[in-house]
Amino acid sequence: MRLILLGAPGAGKGTQATFICQKYGIPQISTGDMLRAAVKAGTPLGLQAKAVMDSGALVSDDIIIGLVKERIAQPDCAQGFLFDGFPRTIPQADAMKDAGVKLDYVLEIDVPFDAIIERMSGRRSHPASGRTYHVKFNPPKVAGQDDVTGEPLIQRDDDKEETVKKRLEVYDAQTRPLVDYYSQWAAKDGTSAPKYRKISGTGSVEDITARAFEALAR
Ligand code: AP5
Ligand code: ZN
Repeated sequence: MRLILLGAPGAGKGTQATFICQKYGIPQISTGDMLRAAVKAGTPLGLQAKAVMDSGALVSDDIIIGLVKERIAQPDCAQGFLFDGFPRTIPQADAMKDAGVKLDYVLEIDVPFDAIIERMSGRRSHPASGRTYHVKFNPPKVAGQDDVTGEPLIQRDDDKEETVKKRLEVYDAQTRPLVDYYSQWAAKDGTSAPKYRKISGTGSVEDITARAFEALAR
């Protein structure tokens, strides 16, 4: 299974990725998690990416495309993978098409922007694993601690209200066009295009997982 999870910041891509990846036994490729790991490690990429991410803008296509190509060449991606937060621009989507990366599904998770602000402000993350919680909607078993490792949870630097607003603007301008890109490709060419599925991302985490599994079975 090779799929893209498409959706606005805070739509629940990371949350649902965990369940989908478990079910299909595939790795989650989150470009956001990869960039945050580079920031934490203080690599040249991380130093460059930090300011861009904190502003809510996108890291350059060349850097991201290079990172992803390297990642999907790893042996654990041979049976498939899930893209979370990638592609995010038309050039990124074109790069996958040009490289002949065959995808089975694009799954769009749709959440209204007003719900997103509340989700982001209560988000807590476990950086090492990418696991994500919410203080109210999806709390960890012990406040402030990751369920699996017990390690401390953090609040992301780009979850400040101003940055969230900017990220939503950037989504509208640069990523939302991918909805047409993939849905029109699927309508035109049912054999080589990935199947396009859209689900509502409003409701409980479990309900949305059930919708995702159902959408990926048809
Ligand atoms: P990235 O890490 O990809 O962030 P994003 O797309 O903005 O998405 P988020 O991680 O914020 O949200 P999510 O959809 O994963 O939601 P989550 O499951 O956490 O990117 C960060 C930055 O890196 C970008 O701004 C950019 O600078 C750079 N970058 C990354 N990829 C790039 C690329 N390809 N090109 C260029 N630049 C790139 O859920 C959110 C919250 O809601 C959580 O608290 C969760 O617990 C809660 N929640 C989840 N489901 C529900 C529910 N059903 N009900 C209530 N709450 C819920
Ligand atoms: Zn995420």
